[in-house]
Order: sequence, then C-alpha cells, then structure tokens
Amino acid sequence: MKAFVVDKYGKDGLRAAEVPEPELRDSDVLVRVSAASINPLDKMVRNGEFKQLLKYRKPFVLGHDMSGVVTRVGPAVPEFQVGDEIYARPRDLRIGTFAQYVAVDQADLALKPRSLSMQEAAAVPLVALAAWQILVERAKIRPGQKVLVHAGAGGLGSTVIQLAKHLGAYVATTATGADADRVRSLGANVVIDYTTDDFANILSGYDVVLDSLGGTNLEKSLTVLKPGGMAIGVAGPPDAGFAKQLGAPMLLGVVMNLISRKVRRQAKKLGVSYSFFFMRASGTQLAELATLYDAGHLYPVMDRTFPFDQTLEALAYVEQGRANGKVVITMDPT
Ligand SMILES: NC(=O)c1ccc[n+]([C@@H]2O[C@H](COP(=O)([O-])OP(=O)(O)OC[C@H]3O[C@@H](n4cnc5c(N)ncnc54)[C@H](OP(=O)(O)O)[C@@H]3O)[C@@H](O)[C@H]2O)c1
Repeated sequence: MKAFVVDKYGKDGLRAAEVPEPELRDSDVLVRVSAASINPLDKMVRNGEFKQLLKYRKPFVLGHDMSGVVTRVGPAVPEFQVGDEIYARPRDLRIGTFAQYVAVDQADLALKPRSLSMQEAAAVPLVALAAWQILVERAKIRPGQKVLVHAGAGGLGSTVIQLAKHLGAYVATTATGADADRVRSLGANVVIDYTTDDFANILSGYDVVLDSLGGTNLEKSLTVLKPGGMAIGVAGPPDAGFAKQLGAPMLLGVVMNLISRKVRRQAKKLGVSYSFFFMRASGTQLAELATLYDAGHLYPVMDRTFPFDQTLEALAYVEQGRANGKVVITMDPT
C-alpha cells in the first residue's frame, strides 16, 4: 500500500513509500483511510522530539488523525462492522494515518459524525479530544467561568473556544486582527490582537488559561489568573505528570519537573497552578463528541485540503505555523 514513512528523524525524515498492509490484532479494525489531517505533533514526531518517550521503530508510517471505512474486523471486535464509517486518533505507538490502510484498536475509534464529510471528520479527532480532556477532565469547566484560549485561529484554539462556549464559559482569545471576526463567530466574547496588544495588560480574574505557545506567553498568562486559577500548557514545558502518563521511567519525570520548575514556582507565588497537558486516544469520548458535532454545538474549522500524494507539501504548510484551521489530506480523488 502507499504510505508516508519516517525512516530517519529530522526535517527530511518523511518520504513516500510502498509498504505492506498493516497486520490485524484481535481487537483491531482495518480501515481504508478516506482522509487524514495534519497536526503539529506530526512534525515533532518526525523531528524526533518525542524519541525519548515514544519509541517508534523506524521506518514507521506517520499521521495521527483520520476518517475512513472499515474493511475488516478482528475476532474480538463486537461493535464495528465492515462498511462502517469511522473517525479516530489512534493511540501513540500505533499511529499511521498517512496511508491507504491503518489498523486501529477498537477502543480508539468511533462512528463518524453523520453531519460531517469524511474530510471534516478527519480534521477533528486530535483537537476535539484535546479540547474535551482539557476543559472537561482537567479544568472541569463550570458555566460562567472565564477561560483564556491562546491562538484561537488555529486547529486546537478554534475547537476549544467552541467547546468552552458550549460548556457555558466566558471566553477570551488571542489572534491577529485579520482573524478577529472569525474567532468571534466561533463564540469568543473577547478577542485580543496579539500583534498590537498585550493580553496581560487587558485581562484579569480568569479561571483557566490554555497556553499553546510556551515561554513568556505562558509566564504572562499566569498573571491574568485569579487566585486558585489554572494554567494548562500544551506546548511545554513538560512535568512529571506527563512522564507518568506515558509510562516513562521515574528519572524522566524528575527531569521534566526540573524543566518546568521555574514556571511552577512562578505559579505557586501567584497562588495559581501550572500543569502540562498531552492528549490521549479515546473512542468513547469521540462517540460523545460526535453527538456534539451532529447537534451543531461544534463544527470543524477547515483551512486547506491537499491530495494524498502532496502530504509532504501539506506538512510543510502546517509547519509554517500560520494555518487558519485544519489542514487535511484526502485519499479519495472525488
Ligand atoms: N499537548 C497536546 O495534547 C496538544 C494537542 C493539540 C495541539 N497542541 C499544540 O498546540 C499548538 C497549536 O496547535 P494547533 O493544532 O492549533 O496548530 P495550528 O493549527 O498550526 O495553529 C497555530 C495558530 O497559532 C496562531 N499563532 C501563532 N503565533 C501566535 C501568537 N503569538 N499568539 C496567538 N496566536 C498565535 C496562528 O495564527 P496566526 O499566525 O494567524 O495568528 C495559528 O492559527 C501546537 O504547538 C501544538 O503542538 C498540543
């Protein structure tokens, strides 16, 4: 089958290849991929930024998001049938959606939202799961709470804004002036143009901040929280909780806590908290999210679609960090 594989870590590590179709485990489903979406995580995995934590055996097929049709099911799969249209973010160490076929554990996938096309459905699993796990599991958002979502124009930010609104929160976000109307139409109550204004001079008394930039943006974000507030970082620095989540050795947890020591201390001084967040696969949550897409509470924010054979170009486009929504590759010429 056709696929894009990483055979060495680095900027030029991804290439088109002909590889065998994946083997099926008992609780797996074989999916003919209709579309896949690109995430910054693909760039980071290709560059080897996770090689200490996620030990992929090279060459491996890249890609974390997809939609497609079930073509075969393992003997221990009661819920899915051949012909089902599904969407998924396969779990770490079993990724591989930049290919014609992928084998996915049944626990990682769900039936595709009926209201979404295959391309739209491929765009949402990773960011929608991240939004759910950040807002519902980690922050336990309640109606009326104030949430600052950085980078509201991006794939993650645009999804978190919508879900936070659905949960009844008051939402502020940062974006360029050119994107202000678009993020406002997603439901943002306050939009700060980060090219002209400093959010830290404007905002205060927030309950939760989602930081996707790290560095000074994260440090400044601590200052807009009210006492007891929570800063959640998705672009670093990592902490021991992340090492634990990935089952890494204790020592790595100690190292990660050292890396985030400065910002955790700053948070403590301000009476707020900082924690690193890394999303995980979940078919159960995707089934719940599908009801929100089908009810119109969430919708995918799409930027561009590329044909499968231009996967390298699509990744290069996302790498520029200026995507205005999700970038999708489609296997389906029609
Ligand atoms: N840990 C996790 O589980 C997890 C999950 C998902 C994503 N992430 C991370 O979150 C980050 C965003 O991911 P994504 O999928 O949303 O990427 P994306 O779709 O490429 O979006 C990036 C957005 O950031 C905006 N931006 C750039 N600089 C900015 C600034 N200084 N202030 C505000 N906005 C700025 C860009 O818009 P303009 O240039 O037009 O402003 C662009 O829309 C990445 O670092 C990714 O790795 C982590």
